[in-house]
Amino acid sequence: ADATLSDTPPARSAADQLLLEVLLSPHGPAGPYPAYRRLRQAAPVHVSASGVVVLSRYRDCDTALRDRALGKADESLGFRLSPVPPELSQRALHRFRRTMLFRNPPDHHRLRTLVADVFTTRHIRDLRSSVVTAVEALLDSIADKRDADIITDLALPLPVSVIGDLLGLPEHGRAAAAPMVRDLMAPLEPAADAAAIERAANAEDQLADYLGEIIADKRRRPGEDLLSRLATARGRDTLDHDECVGTAILLFAAGFETTTNLIGNGTTALLEHPDQAARLRSTPDLAANAVEELLRWDAPVQTNGRTALAATTIGDTVIEPGQVVLMLLGSANRDPDRYGNAEELDLARPNPTPLSFGGGIHYCLGAALARMEAAEALPRLLARFPNLAARGEPTRRTGLSFRGLTSLPVHAS
Ligand code: HEM
Repeated sequence: ADATLSDTPPARSAADQLLLEVLLSPHGPAGPYPAYRRLRQAAPVHVSASGVVVLSRYRDCDTALRDRALGKADESLGFRLSPVPPELSQRALHRFRRTMLFRNPPDHHRLRTLVADVFTTRHIRDLRSSVVTAVEALLDSIADKRDADIITDLALPLPVSVIGDLLGLPEHGRAAAAPMVRDLMAPLEPAADAAAIERAANAEDQLADYLGEIIADKRRRPGEDLLSRLATARGRDTLDHDECVGTAILLFAAGFETTTNLIGNGTTALLEHPDQAARLRSTPDLAANAVEELLRWDAPVQTNGRTALAATTIGDTVIEPGQVVLMLLGSANRDPDRYGNAEELDLARPNPTPLSFGGGIHYCLGAALARMEAAEALPRLLARFPNLAARGEPTRRTGLSFRGLTSLPVHAS
């Protein structure tokens, strides 16, 4: 059954109340961070009335991510605030659920190793010059416009083109698939309702049609790209049809939505902290560390879920098999027990190592790629436009799990 908070008894605890506040209204000017702070203080390991274990401290999230007793089950996808009919939950995302993101060993290992070498730091380094070319071309068109939108003119098209090239997707059709990805990912939000899950199921069908056709082409005429590899996998690496299409969907989806939010949230933070932007302008060598600190400051993925496959403990809290664990990564990243001046943005902070890419066996496969895209895009954006300034109000996406903007208007000069 789905784990829910809304089925808690009427006398909800103060900590449950705080948690609901975090999950439902993360969009004030300060984001979810003030509510995280209060939750960390009031109940750092909070067991909701329905049995969901909510972790908000760095060390607890870090421990949970590495704990092999905590794994993936339908419940980790299904943690939500309001109940959804089980048949709908089951139907939704039946291909996506077959991917590494939702599997435990040994399937997880088989599915991940098939594509993992493409995402190693060494291989990603080889993509750098083509990413720089793509960034410069996007900055050229921003310079022509002057009144631009960081999301639609840079943060979205850059990762779409990079992952599109890696997968071997024809240029046309890529951009049209982007909104489907947004619908597809919506069930990962605790606040997703039945309508959102229905939309996700439809989006998965559309993405499966789009990518399935390209995969069939690659099977006939394989190239050097990732979809060709998925299409022609043999022997121990064999994928069944749903695994193949699901993996293509996962790589396409994970490859840009989150990176878009890193570049968008990162630009917002730099606009709000002109001293830090000036620092990065004058010291481009700070780029790699700056990206880590920006990942800590406003993580693109704020939550991560697991289900106990066996009994385990986090601190003094015993977790029984089947219990859902919700990790508030964005809260862990601001934990004062881990970070001095946790509520300050400091691009030169030594060793930020945020939990923004998760941890353990599901540690983000695309971390090196996302870091490289942001490290090439952000300093170049600042260097090209010394007077970059916000123009009007940004538009924020709803939801907590994926934190980002759909529009960030700027004046670029
Ligand atoms: C997994 C975040 C970019 C592919 C994850 C996880 C997180 C994450 C938190 C762990 C999920 C879990 O444990 O359940 C991010 C962020 C990104 C980003 C914040 C950008 C800033 C990318 C990119 C790709 C990618 C560019 C490229 C294809 C994946 C894949 C997994 C994953 C395939 C599943 C790994 C597994 O289950 O073994 N990501 N990601 N991500 N990410 Fe990313």
